[in-house]
Amino acid sequence: MKILMLNGSGNANGSTRAGLDVMAEVFAENGVETEIVCVGSKPLHDCIGCGKCAELKRCVFNDDAVNSFVEKAAKADGFVFGTPVYYAHPSGRVQSFLDRVFFSSMCSDLYVAFRHKPVASIVVARRAGTSASFDVLNKYAGISQMLTVGSTYWNEFHALTKSDVPQDPEGLQTLRNLSRNMIWVMKCIQAGREQGIQPPCTETGAMTNFVR
Ligand SMILES: Cc1cc2nc3c(=O)[nH]c(=O)nc-3n(C[C@H](O)[C@H](O)[C@H](O)COP(=O)(O)O)c2cc1C
Repeated sequence: MKILMLNGSGNANGSTRAGLDVMAEVFAENGVETEIVCVGSKPLHDCIGCGKCAELKRCVFNDDAVNSFVEKAAKADGFVFGTPVYYAHPSGRVQSFLDRVFFSSMCSDLYVAFRHKPVASIVVARRAGTSASFDVLNKYAGISQMLTVGSTYWNEFHALTKSDVPQDPEGLQTLRNLSRNMIWVMKCIQAGREQGIQPPCTETGAMTNFVR
């Protein structure tokens, strides 16, 4: 089993990465492989709504990790999306990255890369804006038929820099419990599949825009 993790900070080795590492350690102890993809610190395109992904079956912008993330997602059994809090929202770059990941995969056959798989979002802040940021990241899951996994608190921990991370024991406990819950959900899905329980068929066709 494999979990694909996203570090939504421009700082590849900061607090967000430290939180993902805490989770990766629990996954490793339980034989679950992980890979961490970083949104990076180079300029990152926002989704421009060009709709080219419907034709190309990938995002039109090819100079960052978005398209390779979707390809990796197809082989992953679960996901963790991590972000620092910036002005009480997820980092701009993680939102740009995930907008393009989910819009391009929705418009292509790679939608199945995410559907019916468990996901958790984790957020780190010095002080405030965590639950608002957590809500934003969870919304990608809700519209993509993903299974959002919970923990013993909303998935947040507090740090200004990564050296602060060990000073939030409850935050770390939340992350460890989250990892264990994710492993359990993935094992349940695998056991169900072995017993012939398939994900439900998806009803499609209705798309009602709220205009007259
Ligand atoms: C532009 C910017 C905005 C920030 N806004 C907030 C905020 O709204 N609330 C907060 O508690 N911390 C805020 N922070 C602090 C970061 O969330 C915190 O330093 C975090 O640990 C950074 O994670 P990273 O090292 O993975 O980038 C902000 C930091 C930056 C750079």
